[in-house]
Amino acid sequence: MSKFLVKARILNPISDRKCCVYDDGAMVFSEKKGEIYYCGKFKELPKKYHSLTCIDYSDRVIVPALYDLHFHWVQDDVRLMPKASLLSWLSQYTWPHEAKFKNKKFSRMKAQKFFKRLAGVGTIGGAVFSSLHEHSLEHAIEFACGDYVVGNVLMTMNSPKELTQTQKNAKTLIDKFSKKYQSSYALTPRFAPTTHPEIMAYGAKVAKKNKCFIQSHLCETQNEIEYVLGLYRKIPGFEKVKSYVEVYEKCQILGKKTLMGHGIYLSKDERKILSKTKTKIIHCPTSNAPVKERGLGSGLFNFKSCERDGIDWALGSDIGGGPFLSMFDVMRSFVMQNEKAEISGATYTKALYRTTLKSAEILEISRTSGNFAAKKFANFLVLKAPKSIGGTGHSAEKILSAIIKKCAKKRSAYDSLVEHTYYRGNKL
Ligand code: GUN
Ligand code: FE
Repeated sequence: MSKFLVKARILNPISDRKCCVYDDGAMVFSEKKGEIYYCGKFKELPKKYHSLTCIDYSDRVIVPALYDLHFHWVQDDVRLMPKASLLSWLSQYTWPHEAKFKNKKFSRMKAQKFFKRLAGVGTIGGAVFSSLHEHSLEHAIEFACGDYVVGNVLMTMNSPKELTQTQKNAKTLIDKFSKKYQSSYALTPRFAPTTHPEIMAYGAKVAKKNKCFIQSHLCETQNEIEYVLGLYRKIPGFEKVKSYVEVYEKCQILGKKTLMGHGIYLSKDERKILSKTKTKIIHCPTSNAPVKERGLGSGLFNFKSCERDGIDWALGSDIGGGPFLSMFDVMRSFVMQNEKAEISGATYTKALYRTTLKSAEILEISRTSGNFAAKKFANFLVLKAPKSIGGTGHSAEKILSAIIKKCAKKRSAYDSLVEHTYYRGNKL
């Protein structure tokens, strides 16, 4: 008997504007195959499932498990370090810390602990940056529980000595990992300043041949953009580049499997190129938030102009730029920062969609994951429900808002919001 019936209030995200609510909901899934057989109203549950072992979460809320499409697993210890701006935080705290991952034992121990905690806060997939060390990618692959795309950052120039690899080493790792891990590998130029354009161009060819993803950072701060343009306009062939996006375009790393973190300061022309190449943006609101909210103070991503120009986007934590692991904190930050700026349309419903189904689409796994359509995998979270949403008939927006706002005052409380994480029908 590996089939179970779960009773709960179930939220099933469908789009930016639609999330189904089943107050007296039922879900039938197989622990062995990990598949969903039924998700909907209990009163419409087919008779054949009535005798199954029932797990009663009637006073709980169930949502799909979450994806984090941009984070650095090797930055867990710098999440809460003092932040003033991106470039100073990188050189002062982040890079010296990442250098420690040269030690294999340290890296392995960190990966084991980190990914266990990540599953505990409800994240079961995403796109992740390791350090430049070969084993730090291998450790992420070994311990990440769920559907992850992993890349070793490529750092061949303008980096501290202990975090600089030769171009030959970068190419060797690209060749090895892209063949070995295919679509679970992401070619990962850290960002334009630290990766030779020849390496990006070489990597793009190899990545595309092996159906790998590509991930990097783009237009996160004004200083960074000036730095990039200053550097590249001195490089033969790049003298006339007009923008950061053009730098990446010339290196051929844009495309439908490319995930660019941030994209806060994009011109109309840059958005045009991103749209045309089907490049995705991963918005990381907790990392971009003001310094007093423990972010890097980078600015507010303009989701409306990206949507208007047909650019796909999803949410990421950017750990350690983002201070907390939980994607619920990221959803909160997305809604609250836009609310504060009086920008409409940044709802919790949208935030959940951009952390579940949309993210699965970007990872190219939405046929099997991302929400509770029949035959998809049973990847779900059991959440405590606040008293304010007792009874029935509340909208998805009201339910999500109550759950997420409850932890807003003490953000570390998001770490214990998730009671259980189920991945492919198995409780983790
Ligand atoms: N740009 C280049 N490297 C990084 C990083 O580690 N974090 C963030 N937020 N931006 C970057
Ligand atoms: Fe990042």
